Amino acid sequence: MRDSDSSNNRQLLLLIAGAKGTVGSTVAVAVAAMKRNPQFILPSLSTGRLFSYLGEPQAISFGGWDASGKNLCASIKAHAVLPEHLWKPYEAEIDGMPIFEAPGPDSDLKRQVERLIQDFQRFKSKLPDAHLVFVNLLPANVQLDLSGCSDLPQLYAQVDSKVLPDLAYTLAAVLSGVPVVNFTPNIVEIQPILEEAIKHGVPVAGRDGKTGQTYLKMVLASALKARNLTIDGWYSLNILGNADGENLMNPARAEGKLSHKTDLLDNLLGYQVGQRYGASSHKVHIDYYPPRGDAKEAWDTIDFQGMFGLPMSIRLNLLGRDSILAAPLIIDLARWNTVLKMAGRVGPVPELAFFFKKTVGDNPPLTFQDQIAGLQKLVRECDEKILAIQSKF
Ligand SMILES: NC(=O)c1ccc[n+]([C@@H]2O[C@H](COP(=O)([O-])OP(=O)(O)OC[C@H]3O[C@@H](n4cnc5c(N)ncnc54)[C@H](O)[C@@H]3O)[C@@H](O)[C@H]2O)c1
Repeated sequence: MRDSDSSNNRQLLLLIAGAKGTVGSTVAVAVAAMKRNPQFILPSLSTGRLFSYLGEPQAISFGGWDASGKNLCASIKAHAVLPEHLWKPYEAEIDGMPIFEAPGPDSDLKRQVERLIQDFQRFKSKLPDAHLVFVNLLPANVQLDLSGCSDLPQLYAQVDSKVLPDLAYTLAAVLSGVPVVNFTPNIVEIQPILEEAIKHGVPVAGRDGKTGQTYLKMVLASALKARNLTIDGWYSLNILGNADGENLMNPARAEGKLSHKTDLLDNLLGYQVGQRYGASSHKVHIDYYPPRGDAKEAWDTIDFQGMFGLPMSIRLNLLGRDSILAAPLIIDLARWNTVLKMAGRVGPVPELAFFFKKTVGDNPPLTFQDQIAGLQKLVRECDEKILAIQSKF
């Protein structure tokens, strides 16, 4: 069946690398809960009322890969994002979700890609009519400079898949014609992969989900910019006690995320915060603090100036929940990528900047207002294209 065919009862099959992780396993519970009681989850989605040609939003299934040997419910219990009464009722469905073993870390990138392409085939044969979407939720990793890799043979020769397993999954998805969402700070959107995405008709959305503190930073900075208030300094501190927080204590692994969090502000404002001090006065710190688990806390101190250069200040204290903020965005992005593929959109999608800290693609919208307007325009474009295609059948 072609993507443009009338598809109102096709399932969406969400395939996640890192499916048993803190975010992935929360998405699994949301998918199970949504099937049984759609109204419990649908109000948390921003796409719940969009894309009627996709069919019921609850027609969604979950699968993927993980390196952990624990079963999915044991992982949900260990992450302690959700109290037991919120996931126990779906235990049987959750443990029936197909999670494949991660490819052995000792095989090279090419062999891993081949193995994962077979896995995509296995998933397709389980649900032959489904729209497949791949979401990368692997741990934050070191930033590799792969700008010198211009084609696949070079990529296969240069990359040690142990260092960046994300590439094997992303490439296998692209070569299988499956749209990609990169929610991690890891760089997978490199030239040879984007070229293959264009060749295989695959949209690529990324990078680094914008969930809590950075989302509010973008909203507030946009509001201050709209009033011509000059930001003189911005100090952001995060404490979190989940596996992502622990992983980010490794400076090489945190580098990408920290630079995405900092670059965003200067890009949005159009000037460097702290220019007059000769160095950036936008500081971002992340600290692993086990007592908090997934219930992350963030503090922001924002110093800004008004008329006559007189100083003012804002304090922001977010008591968030990392995976609860992230999980609905994963489902929204899976729905977006399905629609984009049906509309014939390929390669990077900068209009999805609303969802990401470091949007891939040219000239992404930067302020909150422009990101919302960009999404609304994209909805209209996709609706028009898909309805026009469907009217021909
Ligand atoms: N939670 C948020 O708000 C948020 C926001 C932006 C970005 N992110 C990013 O999302 C990603 C996932 O976050 P998380 O909190 O779920 O992390 P996590 O560490 O809890 O989960 C990662 C999962 O990946 C699995 N894994 C490791 N190597 C693997 C491999 N080679 N193949 C398959 N599975 C493998 C692990 O076993 C684990 O289950 C991270 O990169 C994080 O930085 C999260």
